[in-house]
Amino acid sequence: EWKMDSFIDTTVEQIRAQVGDKGVVLGLSGGVDSSVAAALISKAIGKQLTCVFVDQGLMRKDEGDFVENTFTKLFDMNFVRINCQDEFLSKLKGVSDPEDKRKIIGTEFYNVFWNKIRESYGSGFFAQGTIYPDRIESGKGDAAKIKTHHNQVGVPEDIKFEDIIEPLKDLFKDEVRAVGEKLGLPHDLVWRQPFPGPGLGVRVIGEVTAERVRILQEADAILRDEMDKCGYADKMSQFFAVLPGVKTVGVMGDARTYSELVAIRAVTTDDFMTADWAKIPYDILGKVSNRIINEVTHVNRVVYDITSKPPGTVEWE
Ligand code: XMP
Repeated sequence: EWKMDSFIDTTVEQIRAQVGDKGVVLGLSGGVDSSVAAALISKAIGKQLTCVFVDQGLMRKDEGDFVENTFTKLFDMNFVRINCQDEFLSKLKGVSDPEDKRKIIGTEFYNVFWNKIRESYGSGFFAQGTIYPDRIESGKGDAAKIKTHHNQVGVPEDIKFEDIIEPLKDLFKDEVRAVGEKLGLPHDLVWRQPFPGPGLGVRVIGEVTAERVRILQEADAILRDEMDKCGYADKMSQFFAVLPGVKTVGVMGDARTYSELVAIRAVTTDDFMTADWAKIPYDILGKVSNRIINEVTHVNRVVYDITSKPPGTVEWE
């Protein structure tokens, strides 16, 4: 407790001393680390901080608005949201290979983000939410490389900042969360489950379209809602819906349907290198299935993924 209080006080003083009257820009993803870094720097320098939030339209339902509301209402800063779902989707048109999709999303993110910085904020200081394990894991083993992860964003050579500020660089995740709570970040943000950088782009299997993203967002929101209501959410390390892109036959009233399948994935794990599928009680799964089929148009079947890691990965792509 007191340790985190004194960490906050000391770090706020350090940031003020280092930054002076210059500006600081930070890329906000809505994840725990960048959010806590943003809150901390906001406490130190208020509107001298600009947070740039690239909303690629591949986040969970209403998540972009939640991030915007949190940082504009609860914290003093200059908050810039770039809505660019259309650009991302046009780049993803016709692409179904998972690694190609990751590369496209990563590259597009890099371009949108740095073009904005170049245009308006390419001086002063650059801040990021690097934490202690990130620095150790930079030399990660092969297991982590089975899929390319696109979280690290290097600064392009033509942009010259005074320095890079990484206020959380010596903290572990639980310490980062404790600091976030002290700074008044919402519980949902501080305890947010891991969410892949490419977002729903790798949960809509195959080609990503606006309509398929919308269907997945609706189904995923219902799953989340039911898990929160029954109190089971905290028992899992990560859970989400997947849209495999398979159509199956069903029956509704006396009519035949031929619609999308939704899969539910839920795991328990300590480190995400191995994971067990979560033993969610049948009645909860049943409720989720009924609601998804009744409330999400174009979905007529729900299945539960009972594959552990290995041999399955947590994500489907
Ligand atoms: P897998 O699917 O590799 O997932 O078993 C392990 C953990 O990593 C997350 N994940 C990603 N995170 N970019 C990320 O930032 C990615 O491309 C990516 N792919 C998977 C996944 O959600 C899980 O927590």
